[in-house]
Amino acid sequence: MKGRKDLLDIEALSVEEINFLLDTAGPFKNLIRQSVKKMPPLRGRHVLTLFYEPSTRTRSSFEIAAKRLSADVTNFTVSTSSVVKGESIIDTIDTLQAMQVDYIIVRHAAAGVPNLIAKHTRASVINAGDGYHAHPTQGLLDAFTMKEVLGPLTGKRVAIVGDIQHSRVARSTSMILRKLGAEVGVFGPGPLIPDDRHADMRSFRTFDDVFDWKPDVVYLLRIQMERQKEQFFPSLHEYHRLYGVTDERLRTIREKGIYVMHPGPVNRGVELVDGVMTYERTLINQQVENGIAARMAVLYWLQPETGLRAE
Ligand code: CP
Repeated sequence: MKGRKDLLDIEALSVEEINFLLDTAGPFKNLIRQSVKKMPPLRGRHVLTLFYEPSTRTRSSFEIAAKRLSADVTNFTVSTSSVVKGESIIDTIDTLQAMQVDYIIVRHAAAGVPNLIAKHTRASVINAGDGYHAHPTQGLLDAFTMKEVLGPLTGKRVAIVGDIQHSRVARSTSMILRKLGAEVGVFGPGPLIPDDRHADMRSFRTFDDVFDWKPDVVYLLRIQMERQKEQFFPSLHEYHRLYGVTDERLRTIREKGIYVMHPGPVNRGVELVDGVMTYERTLINQQVENGIAARMAVLYWLQPETGLRAE
């Protein structure tokens, strides 16, 4: 299937494109489990990671994914770059474009920055998270992980729990799940469940209501303290009591065979207790492993305008 130039959000992808990417990620996962983990399709191509916000999983898995496909990788470190001397995003991109990079993977606190960059460069731009807006490769790896354990997602139920309002993960993952026919419900502190964006999703008043809905997956979100300008709940202790997976709720989850997911990083004692990390249906490490395969599929599929693709 012909690739797009950029991957900026899930909204832009057709169901056929999503299925193509998920189907492509499968063989890549098999490849990265082999002793020889490399294949040549991006030989001669150059990938640049440009992260204006911290990251452990996304940045390192993009770097690994690119190297598995034989691309060269440069990690641009914003804190030691001329950005701190006041260089603008567009001037930074013009400078990097002059170095003939083929892919720019960008994370920024402001929604829309990856779209702005994409308009200014012939390189393929991949949104690695922009403000509240989108984190499309997280959506892809989440859907891939759910399909691995649940099969086709039509009619499957996923309850997303936590800070929906400030979460680009909630936006991208709920969007891809609904495109693939899954039902999505949301649960969290009232002010963190915006009506406008989630009006077409079921919302719950208590964790017991979530369990009564019989979800296949409970998807926990981190509280995005860095994006909250006001206090939306009395304390982290109170948040854990009302919205966290406590020991008692973990017993219910185990009895019902519900899968637990979380995009990371996890705040133990807030959205979950330690026991969740060793529960046999917790998929958090599987999500991390699948992040490499899903990102390999994206890099393989996109078509930069910087020259003929290396085959
Ligand atoms: N899930 C996720 O985006 O994690 P990082 O912030 O560590 O990249």
